[in-house]
Amino acid sequence: MITRVLRIDAGAIGSREVAAAADALARGELVAFPTETVYGLGAHAMDEWAVSRLFEVKGRPANDPLIVHVAEVSALADLAETVPPSIDALSHRFWPGALTLILFKRSSVPDLVTAGRPTVAVRVPAHPIAQAILRHARVPVAAPSANTYSRPSPTTAAHVLSDLDGRIELVVDGGATAIGLESTILDLTVNPPLVRRPGAITLEQIRAILPAAESLNQVLTGTAAHPAPGQSLRHYAPRARVTVFVGECAPVVARVAQEARTAAARGEKVGVLAPQEDLLALAPMLAPLASVGRVVTARAGARREPDDVARELFAALRALDEQRVDVILAVAMPPAGIATAIVDRLSRAAEGRVVDVGGVRRG
Ligand code: TXA
Ligand code: MG
Repeated sequence: MITRVLRIDAGAIGSREVAAAADALARGELVAFPTETVYGLGAHAMDEWAVSRLFEVKGRPANDPLIVHVAEVSALADLAETVPPSIDALSHRFWPGALTLILFKRSSVPDLVTAGRPTVAVRVPAHPIAQAILRHARVPVAAPSANTYSRPSPTTAAHVLSDLDGRIELVVDGGATAIGLESTILDLTVNPPLVRRPGAITLEQIRAILPAAESLNQVLTGTAAHPAPGQSLRHYAPRARVTVFVGECAPVVARVAQEARTAAARGEKVGVLAPQEDLLALAPMLAPLASVGRVVTARAGARREPDDVARELFAALRALDEQRVDVILAVAMPPAGIATAIVDRLSRAAEGRVVDVGGVRRG
């Protein structure tokens, strides 16, 4: 199969291109498109054949449910059996946007989409291209991140093609995504409401509306036993063995320099993924190893701009993978705000190998 690429300028969205992508979805084809979080791989959610192909091309286990995307809140009625009263305030505040809500599903939603669960995850994305496509398609669109299973989520059309070229009908290229991490998932079918996946919309922001909301922060605290399905530790893993170092710049830099030397001495090629401040401090320490190609670095944002770290994180992981490193030493700021989601994604890539610098080692 030849994968077509359609370029759409988010500032001047062409109606012909939107119609082409929307009609392809409505026909049951697989279409990757940008959202404000990451690129999604869309399939008509009510078309079981399309949805089963989606699982197949991603290599996604059938027990990992999909998020259904719709253009507006009013479409909820077709998907959810009951909506809690909090939906008005939540949707008013966060939709369209990077929040996914889990609700009890209607029987019309295929079990394939929800992996047999009685609940359905729904999101109204804000990206103007995603909005335009959903409005034109007039069908709910199931869309997981447009990567193959266990690869980092794609934040550009090039990432999508690197994983799925020749296996899906269409990629809509709308440029790099603004947030770079997948949506916050809030489960409204449990009491108290539970954040099952942290994202750009933080628990603090959700608590402004639902004060009782709690978070599953299983990776760093080791307390929660029930992560969201599909949130297994292997979920975001690049090919290299990743270890995460969480903490302030000075102690993290000292520790990462030491680990890099140890790994290089073992004959391993080392990738260091860190914000700008850390890379600057590390540069003189790693220069001898870098000059002989034992250490390569990838920058993800800057500590003073955590949103930039989030936006650039998955591209940096992919860049190191492409350089065939054996190990990745990844730096994360202490979890707070969006850094909570950054630590979460890196911890998954590291399958739990998280070093709390100055603290205990977990995993
Ligand atoms: O930002 C995003 O959420 C992106 C864009 C494309 O919208 N989508 C995305 O989808 O990240 P995906 O498939 O990579 O992650 C969806 C996750 C599942 O792995 C699962 O953890 C959770 O959503 N999920 C979906 N339906 C659920 C349900 N009924 N109950 C609990 N968790 C659910
Ligand atoms: Mg995913």
